[in-house]
Amino acid sequence: MVSMSNSQVPAAPNTRALTQDELKTLVAQAALEYVVRGQWVGVGTGSTVNKFIEALGSIRHEIPGAVSSSVASTQRLRALGIDVRDANEVERLAVYIDGADEIDGKGYMVKGGGAALTREKIVAAQSDRFVCIADASKRVPVLGTFPLPVEVIPMAGARIIRQFAAMGGRATIRMAGDKPLVTDNGQRLIDVFGLSITDPLAFEAEVSQWPGVVTVGVFAFQRANICLLGTDTGVQTLCFD
Ligand code: A5P
Repeated sequence: MVSMSNSQVPAAPNTRALTQDELKTLVAQAALEYVVRGQWVGVGTGSTVNKFIEALGSIRHEIPGAVSSSVASTQRLRALGIDVRDANEVERLAVYIDGADEIDGKGYMVKGGGAALTREKIVAAQSDRFVCIADASKRVPVLGTFPLPVEVIPMAGARIIRQFAAMGGRATIRMAGDKPLVTDNGQRLIDVFGLSITDPLAFEAEVSQWPGVVTVGVFAFQRANICLLGTDTGVQTLCFD
């Protein structure tokens, strides 16, 4: 069930619509309230999280440090003097803060636009609560408009692309310039277009079993518990518990 409450961080009175960048700043600031002081925090990846990391710098003395979901986020956290530990060193995280490419009415998400989906799912899995921070453009009725990222073992890529084609999806290998993108885990990414994911739990369960799939970018088992959504009227809080 979704419950909504008014923002605790209202947007400043404005005569113009806030830009996407300003909305990201708004939700990043609001997320500080969900960081449990004295405990390690899980940190995601992406442009919205980059703003959260900046905000986290202001309370760095109130937390022992962070577990990060990417090399990029780790570098940003350390540059602010925040201790970053390997996921194996911290048993449980009270909260994981991350963005999303899409989020539906049940807190199910598509993630991986920033190529960090595998580590994001790992850190989310060891966190008690997933707080998603996103601008309003990410809220969708059904997942699938954003191309679905899937991290794969390179030798399985062509077969997995054919398996998605059999489902009605068109998959392509993500490139970095003229070469396939290599993830932080040394693997490849494919992006799947044209899927409508009406049952995210079933979809994630099925695709995760395909040989060679490292991680599918549907986060249904590791869904958001809360979403802080940036809107023109302020931060809307969506609770999915
Ligand atoms: C990173 O791999 C992704 O899962 C991001 O969380 C997602 O792409 C959202 O990124 P932005 O905050 O940049 O939109």
